[in-house]
Amino acid sequence: MANQDDLFHPVIELPEPVRQARYDRLVGLDGIKQRLRKEAALLADPQRLQAWASQHHDTDHVAALSLFTDRAPLFVFAGDVGSGKSALAESFGGDLAKFLDLPVYLYRLKLSTRGSGLVGEMTTLIGEAFAHLHHQGGRARGPRGATSVLVFVIDEADALAQSREAQQMHHEDRAGVDAFLAGIDSLAGAGVSVLVVMCTNRVGALDPAILRRAAAVFNFGRPDDLQRRAVLEQALSGLGIGPGTITKLVEVTGPTADRPGFTYSDLTQRLIPAAIVQAFPDQPVRDPDLLTLASDMAPSPVFTESE
Ligand SMILES: Nc1ncnc2c1ncn2[C@@H]1O[C@H](COP(=O)(O)OP(=O)(O)OP(=O)(O)O)[C@@H](O)[C@H]1O
Ligand SMILES: [Mg+2]
Repeated sequence: MANQDDLFHPVIELPEPVRQARYDRLVGLDGIKQRLRKEAALLADPQRLQAWASQHHDTDHVAALSLFTDRAPLFVFAGDVGSGKSALAESFGGDLAKFLDLPVYLYRLKLSTRGSGLVGEMTTLIGEAFAHLHHQGGRARGPRGATSVLVFVIDEADALAQSREAQQMHHEDRAGVDAFLAGIDSLAGAGVSVLVVMCTNRVGALDPAILRRAAAVFNFGRPDDLQRRAVLEQALSGLGIGPGTITKLVEVTGPTADRPGFTYSDLTQRLIPAAIVQAFPDQPVRDPDLLTLASDMAPSPVFTESE
């Protein structure tokens, strides 16, 4: 049996300031953040629904409450590259912790868990990961509700959870999907405080049986003008860049007839670092240099399902 360190990256207790700052910096996701907080709270601690029902409907016996207890605690984060899927998956637990007033433990599946391809290895490792979470998550649920919550993030889930019908699929990958489905089903209705988040660029490639189980699928996209402006203003603050330049940058990084607009990460991990590296160590970042860089840079191509 693999131990915790073989299966997961070091577990992180939330809230924690670095991840809180990362969560706060995510722009354009307010709708997703709000819905995620509520969905996650109800899945992790369904007794909160009981309290809500007695407060607002004057009863403990609302039939719809039972609909919530058997749901699979699975969220799918789907969408474009560099749009905040990983960043949100690894930071929303801090918000949830404050909302529930409980500690949240962040578990991230290690890539090596996907196995080296030996028949049965992937299945065994995924099974062990879920068994571990089931055990820990059971201890996180007391008679009066959750005492802590476990968030289990499976990033880049594409390979792991590809459709069983996908062409040229190896036997081993198929076994991974089956092990994953068994793991999710073992958590549903089991009274354990575990939430599973899968991130993928290719929601169309995910096995339909996984999508069917998801309590919610959240879609992430490229930033619009206002969102690019917010990211640019935030990231360029302190460099003395003029408001007129920001407005031009917003235009230059937007979609045109023959290419898409910049992604969030095109702005934060390519454009702005490039401007700083160019200026360092002898010059300040100047408005015209920033504009030239932006005009010369091509945005990340849109990820298509066929890739
Ligand atoms: N909504 C956002 N607001 C502000 N910055 C963002 C946003 N989304 C992404 N970024 C920036 O891009 C970086 C990469 O984001 P992240 O790793 O979460 O993307 P992703 O959606 O997981 O992409 P991929 O599909 O390539 O894994 C973040 O660390 C952050 O700097
Ligand atoms: Mg990612």
